[in-house]
Amino acid sequence: MRIPQRGLAKEELFARLEGYRRDDMPWRDGRTWAYVYDPGPEAEEVIKRAFSLYLTENALDPTVFPSTLRLENEVIAMAAAHLHGDEAVVGSFTSGGTESILLAVKAARDRAREQRPGIREPEMLLPETAHAAFQKAGHYLGVRPVLVPVDPRTFKADIDAMRAAITPDTILLVGSAVSYAHGVVDPIPELGALAQERELLLHVDGCMGGFLLPYFRRLGDPLPLYDFRVPGVTSISMDFHKYAFAAKGASSVLYRSKELRRHQMYASSNWTGYTIINPTVQSTKSAGPVAAAWAALHFIGDDGYLEIARRVRDATRRVVAGIEAIPDLRVLGRPEMNLLAFTSERVSVFHVIDEMKERGWYVQPQLAYGCSPPNIHLSINPASVRWVDDLLADLRECVDKARGMPSGELAAKVSAAFAGRDPRELTGETFQGLLAMGGVSGTALPSRMAEINEVLNALSVPLREKLLVEYLNELFRQPAEG
Ligand SMILES: Cc1ncc(COP(=O)(O)O)c(C=O)c1O
Repeated sequence: MRIPQRGLAKEELFARLEGYRRDDMPWRDGRTWAYVYDPGPEAEEVIKRAFSLYLTENALDPTVFPSTLRLENEVIAMAAAHLHGDEAVVGSFTSGGTESILLAVKAARDRAREQRPGIREPEMLLPETAHAAFQKAGHYLGVRPVLVPVDPRTFKADIDAMRAAITPDTILLVGSAVSYAHGVVDPIPELGALAQERELLLHVDGCMGGFLLPYFRRLGDPLPLYDFRVPGVTSISMDFHKYAFAAKGASSVLYRSKELRRHQMYASSNWTGYTIINPTVQSTKSAGPVAAAWAALHFIGDDGYLEIARRVRDATRRVVAGIEAIPDLRVLGRPEMNLLAFTSERVSVFHVIDEMKERGWYVQPQLAYGCSPPNIHLSINPASVRWVDDLLADLRECVDKARGMPSGELAAKVSAAFAGRDPRELTGETFQGLLAMGGVSGTALPSRMAEINEVLNALSVPLREKLLVEYLNELFRQPAEG
């Protein structure tokens, strides 16, 4: 594919772009229960307009574009107040949860380099429910992730296990509010006490829940504290592009003090060009996301968010009760916000997902890991609320249908063939062959994913990871002619 010789007419170009979306999930109808955080058409219009207004301003240099500094400082101030930070709390606006987490880990690492130079291989302790972004940060930054088992009933961090995992090389503890997979809040006050006792940093991952949880508390839910009121919490990540409903590319990382944030920043005047001084990962940075986040917060407002929380909270309760009433389904833990996971010991959840897809729903597969069995994840949006009864009715029928379906044959064959094999010894072709057995070839996905999900679920973690890397390495490539 080449750049067209002559530019396209606007109409044609947009028609083509619209056409490209043909196979995407039509999320506006409210039946995509993951990935999308939709505040409804009115807020969407406002957010879009704010984004386009600041599309081109470069937040790289606030001396040239002081409005970008003002927007960021205002958004971060609102975030700090939301999380009950005092005037010493500082933060940065980032492109997403992963970047916020990466920066918190970098700050912890660089502080340890300065204050605890004897540590050669720094470690961070992650409840095994902590988002994989921490492991990615560890991978990028040379901080070893130590995965700590969680309570198998509640899926919350186990304080005794966390305590037992601390070594002289530990620099950082992590807790989630809420965890993505099961939507539960870790015991942050206990983790804070442990961090203080052992003089460690504690990062709270509030990417998913940090923004909406305070409203759930205000509605009377008995939630533990997880913010800067908890002694021992030293940093918090909180996304705007999830349940603050901002445009994608919007998150924050906050620190109890400037002393800690200093370690997140990067400067270089060691080249021939302009001096680089970057608080975050990006250098050139569109001000669109920060303007859109500012607009979302101002347009929806505190009352608006409280109302959204009330609606999604009630819907979540109905969904949980409805799932529990379907034979053979079981909700994992006790979801504390508006996201949840459920499983089945008798029916393949992966078939249920495929059946739901055929009826126009997107519900998300989660593979077995640690004490968490294979399950289905749901995130409940304002736009999903009106669908609760339909979802439950379809779910009941899909479970019935899945009950009669054969499952696990290919997965059993594949796991027998790969048992004990070191993924490093396996070639790209082997993995392509494996994918072809599951019906995946080239960039085309099979309409039903149950078999491939079952294979992934059955494989060891390193094999899963290698297989997915090989798959993605195929997926992103030059399209065929025509
Ligand atoms: C708890 C939690 N932390 C971190 C992330 C990563 O955020 P992002 O996808 O914005 O990088 C997510 C994403 O869902 C999350 O749920």
